[in-house]
Amino acid sequence: MADWENPWRKDFPLLNGDTVYLDTAATAQKPSCVLEAERSFYETCNANPLRGFYALSVEATRRYEEARQTVQKFLHARKSTEIIFTRNATESLNLVAYSYGLNRLKPGDEIVAAISEHHSNLLPWQMVARQTGARLRFLECGPEGEFSSQSIREAIGPRVKLVAAAQVSNVLGAVNPLEEIIARAHAQGAVAVVDAAQSAPHMPIDVAALDADFLAFSGHKIMGPMGIGILYGKEELLEKMPPFLTGGEMIDAVHRDHAVWAPLPHKFEAGTVNAAGAAGLGAALRYLQESVGFDRLQRWTEKLTALAVEEMTGIPGLRLLGPKAPEKRSGILTFTLEGVHPHDVAAVLDADGIAVRAGHHCAQPLMEYLKVPAATRASIYLYNTEEDIRRFAGSLRQVRRKMGYGA
Ligand code: ALA
Repeated sequence: MADWENPWRKDFPLLNGDTVYLDTAATAQKPSCVLEAERSFYETCNANPLRGFYALSVEATRRYEEARQTVQKFLHARKSTEIIFTRNATESLNLVAYSYGLNRLKPGDEIVAAISEHHSNLLPWQMVARQTGARLRFLECGPEGEFSSQSIREAIGPRVKLVAAAQVSNVLGAVNPLEEIIARAHAQGAVAVVDAAQSAPHMPIDVAALDADFLAFSGHKIMGPMGIGILYGKEELLEKMPPFLTGGEMIDAVHRDHAVWAPLPHKFEAGTVNAAGAAGLGAALRYLQESVGFDRLQRWTEKLTALAVEEMTGIPGLRLLGPKAPEKRSGILTFTLEGVHPHDVAAVLDADGIAVRAGHHCAQPLMEYLKVPAATRASIYLYNTEEDIRRFAGSLRQVRRKMGYGA
């Protein structure tokens, strides 16, 4: 590929126009193959999957289960029955909290959550702690969002029964030492619940090698449709857990006063499932692995991130949060601009056609720890270009002047 030529941009219809989209950490744009996979489901085999004995329903079921196998391979899970379709990572994490946490924890037990967790991997554990009498403790990070071996050892002690940690922070982009966190959790007899919503779009994941007990991600952040998410769980744990939601095809038999649950994975998939969304997610994962590849994606994202850091350096009043090294940021550039509220920064950029996120990024305990009430976040992905970064930086340079500062 020529130096700055982007071979993937043309695959994203929404980006044909003038928009500079730098909010992939909130949701990714969708390539045509994903739109086509969803459309094809509704156009050619729309029927309720898992129930029908006629050709349309059989084909709908085939596409749904094919998507499950694609996810299984993507995560390197041992079995496709360990892959549960949910609505999003938040629902996946709530499933673990309600079905595992509420039933297994008791007073005197401890739950450890990383301080940088997205609210979706914190609020469920606050709920479990409140309802079971377990104590919620935090794994504290350093100024760039890093976790030391000492903090991991100190936080995860013998009373800990569950550890909740993201693989990549959605605010700082920092990659967390999951292997070490999970090994420590297991050494203490605890299970590890991994939020991979921000990592799955950027790095290969091997749940078997990681030895994660549960791992969640959202389809929409990895170029799949909204409304489809994944929970991976070790079979031996999922087998023993009760259903989270009931109704639909998650049963084997229903009697007047009790029911027998369906085997995995359907025990956890109540109601009519989002089969078109699953097909779209399968197409997104194939696109990412076959048409892009994690090596090329990472090289491209790092190159654009390095350019962005270079362009942002020296802008008066600008403070970049998170790791200093561009290759450790997972494409995320979260920053403050002295004297200007992040909502105003985002509004000025928006006037120039540039989309970024501003606020607390659903990670308020981390923001409190960093003593930053709000920040602006630009997040880079495979479809971004050199021009996107230069336009973003050019607009950013004008923000303080437009807001009435000298520079
Ligand atoms: N969790 C998404 C974000 O970080 C929405 O922006």
